[in-house]
Amino acid sequence: MFKTLEWTEAGVVLLDQRKLPTEEVYQVFGTYQEVAQAIKDMVVRGAPAIGVTAAMGIALGVKQIETADPVVFVQKFLLICDTLAATRPTAVNLFWAIERMKKVFYENFKHGDFTRLKRAVEDEALQMQQEDVELNRRMGQLGASLLPQKARVLTHCNAGALATAGYGTALGVIRAAVEQGNSLQVFADETRPFLQGARLTAWELQKDQIPVTLITDNMAGHFMKSGRIDCVIVGADRIAANGDVANKIGTYSLAVLAKENSIPFYVAAPTSTLDLNTPSGEQIPIEQRSGQEVTHIKETPIAPHGIDVANPAFDVTPNRYVTAIITERGIAKSPYDESLRKLKA
Ligand code: MRU
Repeated sequence: MFKTLEWTEAGVVLLDQRKLPTEEVYQVFGTYQEVAQAIKDMVVRGAPAIGVTAAMGIALGVKQIETADPVVFVQKFLLICDTLAATRPTAVNLFWAIERMKKVFYENFKHGDFTRLKRAVEDEALQMQQEDVELNRRMGQLGASLLPQKARVLTHCNAGALATAGYGTALGVIRAAVEQGNSLQVFADETRPFLQGARLTAWELQKDQIPVTLITDNMAGHFMKSGRIDCVIVGADRIAANGDVANKIGTYSLAVLAKENSIPFYVAAPTSTLDLNTPSGEQIPIEQRSGQEVTHIKETPIAPHGIDVANPAFDVTPNRYVTAIITERGIAKSPYDESLRKLKA
């Protein structure tokens, strides 16, 4: 089994997701700056995985602070946090993880023992890693109850073990259902332009011997209309207080198509993805990525040189298209303002 992310004495070890599925390469990132760059470059990606990796990056940075001056120590700590916060704007798990690390930092800072402080932040990052796997399993169990015994499930992007510390959110629900004996057929959208579906979801489901059929993004409507999809399950990068869901670009189109075809549309995400400080999807910042991701496949150009490109990495699905939001604490349904507030409390 592969390990998406790992804490070692040498630094944070990441499975380089840019190289999958053709190469399974693990790289060590030995400083917090290197970890931040790895998140930016999508060596590691997926909201929960970004959060846990950032926490490990902070622990690594704090471990390497060499000063006895408390003022300088805090300055350096804040610089580490700011550097990691500036990597990717949409997944709220990143900011959630940084806040959690800050809390532990300040709780321990007041004792004035920097060795103990360094250990406490490291322990917190490791705790977050372990919790993430556990809560994905719980979410999986809860979500599996929504799936028919025999189901054809469409998913988008990668919300699997590669997008988390392990097991996955949307793919965690699929894994749990398969473990319970459901007979599932997964349809994976390739997910242009970064191809998380083709390169990552197809790879990890195939490794687990879960039946998966790869389709291009523009085939989804055809499969839904011809009665070949029973439900859609996706992950999320940020869920606003009203239940609007930011997820990989293309998710909104799927949700609209699902409603049009009377197919349930489920979102699986941990409560750390719920952002009750953001009232609706309109306020969610959408990351704009390099046009090169659209004009090229790896190094090969597939569009004319110099063409104008737009490349928003995420879109927002309005809550009215979401049948249910599966979390580790329970399943939320409309009205989401109320149900999500209860789950987060
Ligand atoms: O740009 P990415 O690959 O980080 O986007 C990932 C997604 O959109 C996932 O669906 C989301 O983070 C949920 S992962 C459990």
